[in-house]
Amino acid sequence: MIRALTAGNLNAYRSLWLHGLSADPSAFLLTAAEAVATADSALVAKLSAGEVIGAFDSEALVGFVALRRGGPERMRHMADVGPLYVHPSARRRGLARALLDAAVDAALQMGVLQLELCVDSQNLGAQVLYQACGFEQIGLRPRSVIVDGVARNDLLMLRQLDA
Ligand SMILES: CC(C)(COP(=O)(O)OP(=O)(O)OC[C@H]1O[C@@H](n2cnc3c(N)ncnc32)[C@H](O)[C@@H]1OP(=O)(O)O)[C@@H](O)C(=O)NCCC(=O)NCCS
Repeated sequence: MIRALTAGNLNAYRSLWLHGLSADPSAFLLTAAEAVATADSALVAKLSAGEVIGAFDSEALVGFVALRRGGPERMRHMADVGPLYVHPSARRRGLARALLDAAVDAALQMGVLQLELCVDSQNLGAQVLYQACGFEQIGLRPRSVIVDGVARNDLLMLRQLDA
């Protein structure tokens, strides 16, 4: 089942987020230490705002994607997608694709015209997924993040929802 998470999913969300940060650190912007230091209140605010969509296997949260609309009025037509994470035990069953489809539906309901995301230039699996979901590369940001002292590049990808 795919649905927006609520404050009631706080513990499951934090647990899966921390798992992802440890298993696939380059797929996230924050470090594990920063995530651990993030207050419950900040996560509750994010969940209560409907900014995270979850994928469930029976009752267990096994995946999530975040969707954040631009804040300033002149950027309200766009939203950032990510992080996107699916637990290794639930991969290649179409959950990430379903999460992205749900993010697109949510964005359309908000009147958002385009979705943007960053993906590590070496994360070929995620790039195949995003392309299959209609995202196109619009650029490359060199030294986008520095992970454990190593600079990594990000592809910038965009999907126009009214195209
Ligand atoms: C990338 C990720 C979210 C994919 O999740 P998933 O639920 O396994 O993806 P799906 O089953 O929905 O895949 C849909 C399609 O995307 C492509 N795809 C997904 N993962 C892929 C991989 N590792 N290698 C190649 N293609 C892949 C395939 O075309 C797949 O269709 P198929 O299974 O019929 O071949 C998951 O592997 C993950 O969480 N990885 C670690 C975190 C990460 O990289 N997040 C993205 C950061 S921007």
